[in-house]
Amino acid sequence: MFEGKTIIVTGASGGIGVPLVSRLCGLGARVIAIDINPHGAEILQSEISDASRLVYFCSSLEDEQTCRAILGKETHIYGLVHLAGIFVPDDMTAGDTEAVYDPVMLANVRNVYGLYASIRESLLREVHARVVLVSSLAFRRGAPGHTAYSAAKGALVGMARSLARKEAPNLLVNVVAPGFIDTTMPQKIIAKRGIDAVLGEIPMKRLGTADEVASVIQFLLGPDSAYVTGQVINVDGGIICS
Ligand SMILES: NC(=O)c1ccc[n+]([C@@H]2O[C@H](COP(=O)([O-])OP(=O)(O)OC[C@H]3O[C@@H](n4cnc5c(N)ncnc54)[C@H](O)[C@@H]3O)[C@@H](O)[C@H]2O)c1
Repeated sequence: MFEGKTIIVTGASGGIGVPLVSRLCGLGARVIAIDINPHGAEILQSEISDASRLVYFCSSLEDEQTCRAILGKETHIYGLVHLAGIFVPDDMTAGDTEAVYDPVMLANVRNVYGLYASIRESLLREVHARVVLVSSLAFRRGAPGHTAYSAAKGALVGMARSLARKEAPNLLVNVVAPGFIDTTMPQKIIAKRGIDAVLGEIPMKRLGTADEVASVIQFLLGPDSAYVTGQVINVDGGIICS
């Protein structure tokens, strides 16, 4: 499906990133995986059958110059999937602006703004290239105690809708908004609230799997989504409709 195509995945060595990268490499893509985790390359290589399809960069993508230094030689990029993010609680008390808001915005949204700016021309050289930004249920309904995170995930939706309109028909831009997915990221909040309380608000009565999110991202990267742009796809077991 993705033979000859280069796809960038940020947050690539995380819970959703690993099955996604494995899937994309298995479907023939050359994946440029980026993550702040210094052990990310080993984590990914142990999961991927053909490691020659994988290029790994350990980076936080902290500014546009860094993004250009990493990706400047890539003349043709078919896809960008932005999974990088951190989920940090806040109380709206003294110091939260610098201690929580700034790093949360940097890790979830500022990084992909600079990344997009640095690879835009390479994306537009491909026919109907794809961008998938990963937001969250936290934006759709507001996560109490995670105000900065909810704001950052909303900013990604605004960015995606703006880019979808700006770049159509050459480039398709969509958002995936997961609910409670069984990775390490939501474990603290699940423990705090109790698993029964969490499952009680999910119509599907279970957590989602990382692979179930990866499969929706694959759809948005692939040929079957050729007429889908500017959309937010919830992968949340029905929470938003309930
Ligand atoms: N798991 C869930 O329940 C859930 C729910 C809603 C949204 N999401 C979103 O899905 C995405 C992936 O979540 P996950 O469950 O795989 O989480 P995860 O914590 O397992 O993975 C996130 C990855 O991003 C990396 N990262 C963090 N900051 C970075 C930065 N500045 N630059 C590069 N990499 C960075 C981390 O090292 C980690 O590998 C996140 O954006 C998250 O907000 C997850």
